[in-house]
Amino acid sequence: MRVLAIESSCDESAVAVLDDQGGLLSHELYSQVDLHRIYGGVVPELASRDHVRALLPLLRQALKNADTRPEQLSGVAYTAGPGLVGALLTGAALASAFAFSRGLPTVPVHHLEGHLLAPLLEEEPPPFPHVALLVSGGHTMLIRVRGLGDYELLGETRDDAAGEAFDKTAKLLGLPYPGGPELARLAESGRSGVFQFPRPMLDRPGFEFSFSGLKTAVSLAARERPLTPERRADIARGVQDAIVETLLRKTERAVVATGIANVVVAGGVGANRALRAGLDGLARRHGGRIYQPRIEFCTDNAAMIAVAGLLRLQRGGQARDLAIQARSQWPLVELAAAGLPGNVV
Ligand code: KG4
Ligand code: ZN
Repeated sequence: MRVLAIESSCDESAVAVLDDQGGLLSHELYSQVDLHRIYGGVVPELASRDHVRALLPLLRQALKNADTRPEQLSGVAYTAGPGLVGALLTGAALASAFAFSRGLPTVPVHHLEGHLLAPLLEEEPPPFPHVALLVSGGHTMLIRVRGLGDYELLGETRDDAAGEAFDKTAKLLGLPYPGGPELARLAESGRSGVFQFPRPMLDRPGFEFSFSGLKTAVSLAARERPLTPERRADIARGVQDAIVETLLRKTERAVVATGIANVVVAGGVGANRALRAGLDGLARRHGGRIYQPRIEFCTDNAAMIAVAGLLRLQRGGQARDLAIQARSQWPLVELAAAGLPGNVV
C-alpha cells in the first residue's frame, strides 16, 4: 500500500510518498520562514497564498522522486487540522481534487497524530505503550500512548506552548524569527545559573505546564543595559534551562505515575539538543529509552502525515465522502475518542 501525503497547516509546504513495503520513497519540503521573517511571525494570509504557489510543484517532484505514478497510490492523506484554516484548506483542496480525479480515497490526518507517529519512520520504532512529550509551536502535551489512535492526555499547557515560549523570549532578545533554534544556538555559549528564571507549576502536583510568566522575567532581564553579547547568551541559557528543566521534571512525573519508561519526544521543540539529551538520561534512569524522530522530522513535514495516513488507511480510516476537511481547532482527545477507524468527522 502506498500513500501520497500533503502537509500545509502552518508555514511549511510539504509532500511525501510512503510505501508499507518500501518505506519512505520521497519527501519534499518548502519552508516559508524567509517570507514571514520580516513580520516577526507567521502571517496567515501570506502563508495560504504561498502554499498555493508551492504545493503543486512539490507534489510533482515528490511523485517523480518516488518513481510513482498516480495509479500506484492507494490513497491521499492530508493534514486536516489543527492549524491555520486558510493554510489547511490549500492542502486539503489539492489532496481532495487529486484523489477525486483519480478515484482514490482521502485520509484526513490530525497534525498532532502525525507528530506523535513520526518516530515510526526510524529504524527502531517506539514500542507501545509509551509516554509522549509533544512540544511544538502551538502545543505542549504529555500523552500516554497505548496504541495507534489510543491517546490519553495526561496534561498540557495552560497558556503558552514551549515553542511559543522559546520564540517569544527570543524576540525579546532581538533574535530573528523563528526564534527557538536561534535561542538554542545562543544558549550554547551562555552560562548556566547566571539567570534563574521561573519554573512554574513544578511545585504543584500533576502534569500541567505554564510558560507565559517567562516572558515578563526575560523582558526585565533584557531591559537592563548594557545588553552585552555575554549577557544575551547568559539570558538565552537561563531561558533554555528553565523550559527544559520544566519539561523534564513533568515528563519524569508522568514516567513514574504511569510506570512506563519508554519516552517519545515529538514536535519542533523536540529538535532541541539539551531537551533530547535530558530525556535520554531520564528514560535510562527509569529503565527505558528515548525514541525520537530525526531532527528534520521533528518540525513540520509530510513524512509524518504519510505515516499517520497510511496506518489509518490500512485500518479503514479513509473519509466517507468528498467533503474537504479543515479544522483550525481539533482536540486530540476527540480523535482518541473516535477510536479506529475514524479520525473522520
Ligand atoms: O512542530 P513545529 O515545526 O510546528 C508546529 O506544529 O508548531 O514546531 C515549531 C516550534 C517553533 O516554536 C520553533 O521555535 C521550535 O519548534 N523549535 C525549537 C528548536 N527547533 C524548533 N525550539 C527550541 N530549540 C530548537 N532547536
Ligand atoms: Zn507541527
